[in-house]
Amino acid sequence: MTLNPATQSVFSDHRSPARGGTTRWKSGAGPAVLPLPAASSTPKVSLKDISLTYKGNNGSRLLALDSINLQVKTGEFLCIVGPSGCGKSTLLHLIAGLQQPSHGHVLVDDKLVDGPGTDRILIFQELGLFPWLTVAQNVEFGMKMNHVPKPERQEKIRYYLRLVHLSQFQNNYIHQLSGGMRQRVALARALATEPDVLLMDEPFAALDAQTRDLLHDELERIWAETGRTIIFVTHNVREAVRLGDRVAVFTFRPGRVKREYDIDLPRPRHLEDVTVAKSAREILDDLREEINRSLEAEYGFEVRP
Ligand SMILES: Nc1ncnc2c1ncn2[C@@H]1O[C@H](COP(=O)(O)OP(=O)(O)OP(=O)(O)O)[C@@H](O)[C@H]1O
Ligand SMILES: [Mg+2]
Repeated sequence: MTLNPATQSVFSDHRSPARGGTTRWKSGAGPAVLPLPAASSTPKVSLKDISLTYKGNNGSRLLALDSINLQVKTGEFLCIVGPSGCGKSTLLHLIAGLQQPSHGHVLVDDKLVDGPGTDRILIFQELGLFPWLTVAQNVEFGMKMNHVPKPERQEKIRYYLRLVHLSQFQNNYIHQLSGGMRQRVALARALATEPDVLLMDEPFAALDAQTRDLLHDELERIWAETGRTIIFVTHNVREAVRLGDRVAVFTFRPGRVKREYDIDLPRPRHLEDVTVAKSAREILDDLREEINRSLEAEYGFEVRP
């Protein structure tokens, strides 16, 4: 296997003829045949030699990310997995422009990122929905901040609530929704600002298995329909294989790209697919080494394989 920066396709025996063509789905392979916003070869996001050092309270320094080089194509779905504390959230913050790297550059469309922008949006696990606003008002919020005119806002609220199947709940308050519905409101709110790049930080980690399965289907459908570029952080390797065009495995601190896997399995995929499980197992073996390193560092004892 080739280490970073070379991307390696280890699952090419499952390569979908639909890849790079005009459909995301193999015809007849699932319930829907959706148009593909064909992935362009121009990088949407480029991370060039990124390092980030945090300063601790007592003057100590912690190298969180080290020499990260990654390119994400327009319309690509990249998943990132890595042990806890390896810098995944930090990396999303850098791409969102909420933090600056200590070294290196983040480029979006070949332009240097030096702060937040409407072309990128970060969705956290905590969601950050406003409990005093209705579903529709939550979806409207980002558009208001971006000074989108009212008639256009109304149209987009309708469109995006329909896309996430929440039209009937537009006048509900957040506490009147289930966890999965809240997650869909957060997704609609993010999509309504029409960012090119969606940065998702473990968005489904707190959900039950059934709701998560449904949201996987919906996210995949929305991604195919809207052509957004998605960078998705998860601890769940199967989820990464279920959703991603590519999975990047990060090392334990400092976070580096250990290996990248192209996932060429046909879509739509399901978590329980044998091919998904097989691919996930291979990636998990790789990740386990890093998780063991992190456990050794945290607990100071040797973890047996
Ligand atoms: N504001 C901060 N100041 C100092 N250190 C920080 C800060 N934020 C994060 N860190 C440290 O940087 C490292 C990476 O943190 P980060 O939150 O990016 O990890 P992560 O991969 O997202 O972890 P998890 O999977 O647990 O969410 C950790 O060791 C963390 O303690
Ligand atoms: Mg995190």
